[in-house]
Amino acid sequence: MSDFRLDGRTALVTGASQGIGEAIARRLSAHGARLVLVARSEDKLEALAEELRSTNGEAVAHPLDLARPEAVGDRLAELPEGFTEIDILVNNAGITADSLFVRMNLEQWERVLEINLTGAFAVTRALARGMMRRRWGRIINVSSVVGLMGNAGQANYSAAKAGLIGLSKALARELASRNITVNVVAPGYIRTAMTEDLPEAARKELEKSIPLHRLGNVEDVAAGAVFLASEEASYVTGHVLNISGGLYI
Ligand SMILES: NC(=O)c1ccc[n+]([C@@H]2O[C@H](COP(=O)([O-])OP(=O)(O)OC[C@H]3O[C@@H](n4cnc5c(N)ncnc54)[C@H](OP(=O)(O)O)[C@@H]3O)[C@@H](O)[C@H]2O)c1
Repeated sequence: MSDFRLDGRTALVTGASQGIGEAIARRLSAHGARLVLVARSEDKLEALAEELRSTNGEAVAHPLDLARPEAVGDRLAELPEGFTEIDILVNNAGITADSLFVRMNLEQWERVLEINLTGAFAVTRALARGMMRRRWGRIINVSSVVGLMGNAGQANYSAAKAGLIGLSKALARELASRNITVNVVAPGYIRTAMTEDLPEAARKELEKSIPLHRLGNVEDVAAGAVFLASEEASYVTGHVLNISGGLYI
């Protein structure tokens, strides 16, 4: 047993500048992985990379905008020396643009599909070939329980997150023969910038509706991601790991 150690592996995490992605990057680094940190905010990525290096980790910032999926392949062909062979990919970057469906315009629909779903497609396409050649890989897509259960006001986001699950299951079948697993983590309500606008009363109501009676922490999601990245999870593929305190059962 390796106790979920990831020494010698290189991981790329999108949306690593804050929130869940930052927590996943920290946890992967703590387990021994080399880290490529991706998002738009260069300063935040550099600060995290610096911090991980100062605690004996190896990490680089690699800023990239997923709103331009056609440029993603070129940008990922420029990974710095020592970080070019990605073993573990975490497609975590995501946005919301909520609106009741009848008021949702095409721009809101396309923007959310583009970052959450097409972004993951573009990054995965750029990196899967290397994993196939090396016959080892872990792809972890961060979806959401709303991709499983739907959510009023989030038709675009629910569609994108459900799309990620379909993409993951298809890829799990396609890449299994190359020893690459593809899995999903589906968080419920996690305390991050994405949920901080929730009014106090709404948060209390929400907590009541969650069987474990609390919002999740970013570490709850990071723990699931580390398991799926590990050697111990080598017989798990095409799985959706719901981390929602029982909100979705
Ligand atoms: N928080 C929750 O309750 C919750 C629940 C279920 C699922 N999720 C999912 O978990 C993931 C992380 O959520 P979070 O709560 O940590 O959100 P967050 O704090 O808003 O972080 C989102 C991340 O995505 C990056 N990002 C956004 N647009 C980007 C773009 N165009 N190009 C590259 N990176 C981009 C952001 O970095 P930059 O701004 O620096 O680009 C940031 O690092 C998302 O996929 C979200 O849908 C969250």
